[in-house]
Amino acid sequence: MKALVPIFLVVAILFAVQIIVSFDRWPVDSVQQGFRGTGMVEISNPRIEADLVKANQPPDSYGPTEPGGPKASEIYQNVEVLGDLSEDEFTALMISITAWVAPEQGCAYCHNVENMASEEVYAKKVARRMLQMTKTINSQWKDHVADTGVNCYTCHRGNPVPQYAWFQETGPAQSVGGFNAKRQGQNVATERAVYTSLPYTALDELLVADGNIRVQSAGALPIVGETGVGLQATEHTYSLMMHMSDSLGQNCTFCHNTRALGSWEQSNPVRTKAWYGIRMARDINNTFVMPLQPLLPEAHLGAQGDIGKVSCMTCHQGVNKPLYGAPMLTDHPTLGVASN
Ligand code: HEC
Ligand code: HEC
Ligand code: HEC
Ligand code: HEC
Repeated sequence: MKALVPIFLVVAILFAVQIIVSFDRWPVDSVQQGFRGTGMVEISNPRIEADLVKANQPPDSYGPTEPGGPKASEIYQNVEVLGDLSEDEFTALMISITAWVAPEQGCAYCHNVENMASEEVYAKKVARRMLQMTKTINSQWKDHVADTGVNCYTCHRGNPVPQYAWFQETGPAQSVGGFNAKRQGQNVATERAVYTSLPYTALDELLVADGNIRVQSAGALPIVGETGVGLQATEHTYSLMMHMSDSLGQNCTFCHNTRALGSWEQSNPVRTKAWYGIRMARDINNTFVMPLQPLLPEAHLGAQGDIGKVSCMTCHQGVNKPLYGAPMLTDHPTLGVASN
């Protein structure tokens, strides 16, 4: 009997340690998202939230400036996108994009400072396309970004290569031996698949290519044959969903009633926002970002030679609205106008 006491003690201590490390310390907040009794509740921890708020503050302001006076196109030589701005508006925008994209390198990141009109620096050509991309996001994808909008800082946050641009994941050696097993791009812990065993190629399949995301069967029998959707598509879908939850810092129940993941009637309205977000990310990557790859120096490309691409994380960075919904177009309204 005496020998049992220390064993009980050890077990009790291990149990206590397990509780301490696996539970969030009080206080914890919860917000109801859906109908009562559906379990659609977001749990958050104010301590983690406070760090996120600190990391997601809007950038410094260099506007707004007065319109009027001669246009940039009358003063400068090579202004294909910003020609309609006044000189003041133009200069303020140059100062802002420097702060948003290349604060350490300054104007010289994009310009030969001896001749600002010169096109010799690759970054200037990339930046011109980025200006057109930003204008397109803000004017054509209002279904997603609303009037909040985005500017260069939403993605770049003071870095020439956005911290959360993503490159093709190579993963470890494909063969894992035994029966000539293949990893099939999964069953390995990667940040891309939020450390699940799901495929790490979901962003390639679903945010660059337009793979199938409707995978839930409406009937009882296996989905292949009925809808033509296989296991791979299902795994890619779940992997993307993990990425979306992770990027927004929200649970699946932020968008879904998890008793019927496919049902739009039972989902929260924000799920439609996410639907547009998926289409927007595909458009950004295919129309704007990927064609720029030949311009970039090799050092800024991924291991497979691909350019960094955009995912939900590139803008959201752990928050349901990037930078907590701070309006991004007040100082430079031109970024909200469709591009020429
Ligand atoms: C991130 C890249 C980038 C940075 C940094 C940058 N610019 Fe520019 N700049 C551009 C682009 C792109 C254009 C062309 C815009 C267009 O086509 O409408 C341009 C054009 C100009 C022009 C017009 C030149 C001409 O005659 O055609 C001037 C002047 C200028 N920038 C000044 C500045 C100054 C001053 C700074 C630093 C405070 C700066 N820029 C920083 C990208 C940049
Ligand atoms: C939706 C996100 C997003 C927005 C908004 C955005 N960018 Fe980018 N930008 C990217 C991505 C992704 C790349 C490619 C990263 C890579 O591999 O270099 C990139 C690359 C660049 C580069 C080349 C960096 C290098 O040297 O490799 C420049 C310069 C640049 N952006 C300027 C801008 C400017 C100026 C704006 C605002 C007018 C802007 N970007 C807005 C995502 C964005
Ligand atoms: C930010 C909103 C959002 C979050 C968070 C989210 N989803 Fe989704 N989910 C969607 C949208 C939008 C679609 C439909 C995509 C489409 O059709 O393009 C979808 C589709 C699905 C589907 C396929 C449904 C069908 O019609 O076959 C499944 C399964 C799914 N989600 C599971 C999950 C799981 C599991 C999580 C949590 C890990 C999650 N989702 C988190 C928005 C979300
Ligand atoms: C170009 C930047 C950008 C990208 C990329 C992006 N978003 Fe957003 N998203 C925004 C902005 C800006 C808002 C805020 C709009 C508003 O104020 O209503 C937003 C809002 C949302 C909302 C509404 C949140 C709420 O509380 O109302 C959801 C859901 C969402 N995004 C999901 C996604 C998903 C999922 C992806 C990836 C498939 C994605 N977003 C990619 C910029 C982006």
